Amino acid sequence: MAAVLHDQLVQKLTAVNQQHLFQFYGQLTSAQQVAFDQQLASLDWTLIHQLVETVVKHPEKFALPHNVQPAPYYEHRPSDPAKKEKLCQAFARGEELLRTGKVAAFVVAGGQGTRLGWDAPKGTFPATPIKRKPLFQCFAEYLLAMGRRCGRDIPLYVMTSPLNDAPTRAYWKEHHNFCIKAENLMFFPQDSLPAVSIDGKVLLEQKDSLALSPNGHGGSLLALFKSGAIADMARRGITQISYFQVDNPVVRCVDPLFLGLHDLDGAQMSSKMLHKVAPKEKLGNFCLIDGKVSIIEYSDLPDELAEQRLPNGDLRFRAGSIALHAIRRDFVEELNGHGFTLPYHRAEKKVPYIDPATGQTVKPHHPNAVKMETLVFDALPLARTSIIYETDRVDDFAPIKNPEGVDSAVSSRQITSLRNALWLKAAGIAVPMKPATGAHGEVSVDGQIADCTLEIAPSFALYPDDVKANKDKVPTMKAGAEVYLE
Ligand code: UTP
Repeated sequence: MAAVLHDQLVQKLTAVNQQHLFQFYGQLTSAQQVAFDQQLASLDWTLIHQLVETVVKHPEKFALPHNVQPAPYYEHRPSDPAKKEKLCQAFARGEELLRTGKVAAFVVAGGQGTRLGWDAPKGTFPATPIKRKPLFQCFAEYLLAMGRRCGRDIPLYVMTSPLNDAPTRAYWKEHHNFCIKAENLMFFPQDSLPAVSIDGKVLLEQKDSLALSPNGHGGSLLALFKSGAIADMARRGITQISYFQVDNPVVRCVDPLFLGLHDLDGAQMSSKMLHKVAPKEKLGNFCLIDGKVSIIEYSDLPDELAEQRLPNGDLRFRAGSIALHAIRRDFVEELNGHGFTLPYHRAEKKVPYIDPATGQTVKPHHPNAVKMETLVFDALPLARTSIIYETDRVDDFAPIKNPEGVDSAVSSRQITSLRNALWLKAAGIAVPMKPATGAHGEVSVDGQIADCTLEIAPSFALYPDDVKANKDKVPTMKAGAEVYLE
C-alpha cells in the first residue's frame, strides 16, 4: 500500500515540478518515509501548483478599480440627535443579543507572529502593563466580566494552526482555561500550505517534512465550518460571531454597540474602523467599490487618493481597518454552502529551509520565500450588507506586532495606561499626565500621555462609567506610580 501511495505521489509531484522534494527520501528511515508520504498526500497539489504559477511566479500587479469611493461609517461621537439615538438603540440591541446567548467570541490565533519573534503561541505573550497578563487571559477576563454583566456565559472559539494547536491547548489547560468553563471553549486548527521559494519550489523544513505555514486569517471562514464550530454555534442558538485578532490586549472581544448596529442593520459582515492619523498610516482603507464595502491595503492606495482632503481638512479616505469584524453565523454557512473562494495574497517572509545542495538547514536573513494567504476582509464585498462603525483609537486598539517601536509591547502598555488614565479622569479622578515625546510608537491624546502605569482588570471596569461606581477603591495617584485595579 505504502509503495503504491509513494509511486502515485512521485507521479503527481513530478507533474507539478516539485519532484525535488524526494531528494533526500533515500536517507529516511521507513517510518519517516511513511510519515513524509502522508504529509504530502494530505495537501492539494493542484491548488498548490495553481498558486505557484499565479501568486509566486507571475503575480498580478494590483489594479485600482475604477469606481473607488470612501466607505460611509457610523461615527463614534455623532452630534446629530438621530444618530445618537441609533447608537443608544444599538447598544441596547447588543446587550440583548448577549443576554439571550446569541453571540460567540472568536479569536484568530493561527498566525506565526514572526515579527514579534515570540517562540510560543502569540496568545501566551505577557501583555498588560503591570501584571503582564498573557493576551489569552485578557480575553478570558473580558468575556467573564461581560458574561457576569449580561447574566449569560459567552462562548469563546479559538482558531489555531496545525503548528501551534497543541501548545495552545496545553497552555489553556495548564491555566485552568482562565476560569472559562470547558463547555464554553472550543479550539480548532485552520489549514496550512507549504512555503515556496521565490522561483517556485516548495521548501523542505526537514528532509522528511515541508515548511508549512497557516493559510492566512481568511482561512478562518472555512475552518469555522469544517471544524464543526459553526454547527456547535447553531446548536447553541448563536447568530452572531465577534471576530478579533490575538494581538490586542484591550480589544472589546464582544462589543454590544458594534454588534447591535450590525444586527439592527441586518448586515452579514461588518467592521470597526479608526480615523487614520496620516494619509499612509499602515491600516487597510475602507472603500466602496461598485457600491460594495471593500478594503484596499495601505500600500495599494495611490498617494493622490490617500492624500485627498475634504474642505474641512479631513482625509477623504480616513477609515482605517483594525481587523475587528461582526459576522453572521448564517453568512459563514452561506459562503461554505456555495463553495466560495477568497483570493490568495503573496507575503514574502524569511523561512528556514533545507539547502538541496548541502542538505543543511539555512536560516535566511532576508525574505527568501513566499507564503500564500487568504485575508478575511476579502469576504466583505461578498456580504449583501456590511456596516462600519468608528471606534476610539485608545479604547480598542493597542496591538502587539513588533519587538520594538510602533505596535510593540512597549507601545501597547503605554496605550493601555493612557486608556485607563482617561477612564479615571472621566470619573473625576486626578491622574498625573505628561507631554508625549513621540518615542517608541507612543500614542497620545491632546499631546499628553499618562505619567504613571495603570492597569484595570475587566472585573473592575468594562466601561469608563464603571469606574465611577468603584471610585472609592482608587488610591491617590502620584507621578511614576504603578496602580492595578481589580
Ligand atoms: P498578522 O497579520 O499579524 O500575522 O495576523 P501573524 O502571522 O500573526 O504575524 P507576522 O506577520 O508573522 O508577524 C493578524 C491576526 O490573524 C491571525 C493572527 O494570529 C493574528 O491574530 N492569523 C494570521 C491567523 O489566525 N492565521 C493566519 O494564517 C494568519
